Amino acid sequence: MVKLAVVGATGLVGRKMIELLEKKDIPADEVVLFSSKRSAGLEVPFKDRTLIVEELTEEKTDGGFDYVLMSAGGSTSQTFSPLFERHGAIVIDNSSAFRMDPEIDLVVPEVNTPQLKRGIIANPNCSTIQSVVPLKLLEDAFGVSRVAYTTYQAVSGSGVKGIEDLARGERGEEPVNYPHAIYNNALPHIDVFDEDGYTKEEKKMMDETRKILGKPELDVTATCVRVPVENGHAVAMNVTLNTSPAVSQLQQVFRDSSAVVLQDDPANNVYPMPLTASGQEEVFVGRIRKDGSLPNSYHVWVTSDNLLKGAALNAVQILEQLLNRNEGLE
Ligand SMILES: NC(=O)c1ccc[n+]([C@@H]2O[C@H](COP(=O)([O-])OP(=O)(O)OC[C@H]3O[C@@H](n4cnc5c(N)ncnc54)[C@H](OP(=O)(O)O)[C@@H]3O)[C@@H](O)[C@H]2O)c1
Repeated sequence: MVKLAVVGATGLVGRKMIELLEKKDIPADEVVLFSSKRSAGLEVPFKDRTLIVEELTEEKTDGGFDYVLMSAGGSTSQTFSPLFERHGAIVIDNSSAFRMDPEIDLVVPEVNTPQLKRGIIANPNCSTIQSVVPLKLLEDAFGVSRVAYTTYQAVSGSGVKGIEDLARGERGEEPVNYPHAIYNNALPHIDVFDEDGYTKEEKKMMDETRKILGKPELDVTATCVRVPVENGHAVAMNVTLNTSPAVSQLQQVFRDSSAVVLQDDPANNVYPMPLTASGQEEVFVGRIRKDGSLPNSYHVWVTSDNLLKGAALNAVQILEQLLNRNEGLE
């Protein structure tokens, strides 16, 4: 008997989680959906039934849950994830609240497995997830000593309010969520600025990459940019390896792996794009070139659906990893 909760069930990520639970036929005997008071009472079709969204309260965390998919923002996670954990659940937490806690696993199933010192597992930042999947392949094949990221992040990464701001701009209205118009624009500003000039989003990519790859010494830097794309993040990675393989060797590593899809045929206009990644579960890589300005360095362009692999799918894959592990124990 497996009892599962989805918190933030009415959000962009939560809705994808529910779709994936159904699509992948996750063996949950009971699924309970939570939101804030605002959306409580909404009806959500799930398999052959209709689930009614409930308002999350402290008392409801003691509902005998085995697993909780938590996707309702950092402050909701801060309050409720430890309560679910205390009542015996394993929480897969989509917010940044616990990601850098040394006791808490930060997991991308293609890269690492949870150690479960705590009953909370953190789901990494969306751009980080799609970046570490190809980086891990390069690490295993050639060793990685440095990476510089530049991101092109879709407005769905800001949740419902990001999509609403893009639509407002298209109608000629002022933004509400972003400090400037996102329509016809690009904002080098995701999350708040730290004193050193980096944003928290950039710091997340830098810190989380080191933690997931288990390489605290890795040189990483990032510039994160919001672009007027509805869904699908792109990341330009500049990677320095320990050796100097041919570009074709990098392509072969990606071609041989089931973790990524290689789309690298520029002569025929074949390369990864947010539009073609949106709605897909895979991480796409292409535009692989040698960077002549630095020894052992390469450009790799990566796209993925930020709501799927960047959020809901990665969380559901972690859940599958846990369920398979439990099956193995029986
Ligand atoms: N969007 C992405 O690409 C992405 C990627 C990685 C991680 N994440 C993270 O995933 C989380 C959700 O993001 P999203 O894009 O799905 O946001 P969203 O579309 O704005 O949805 C937020 C969800 O949280 C619920 N919620 C808000 N306050 C709550 C409370 N006090 N108690 C219970 N539920 C509450 C909302 O319920 P109501 O309907 O009642 O308001 C809604 O279901 C965030 O932590 C975000 O940082 C998002």
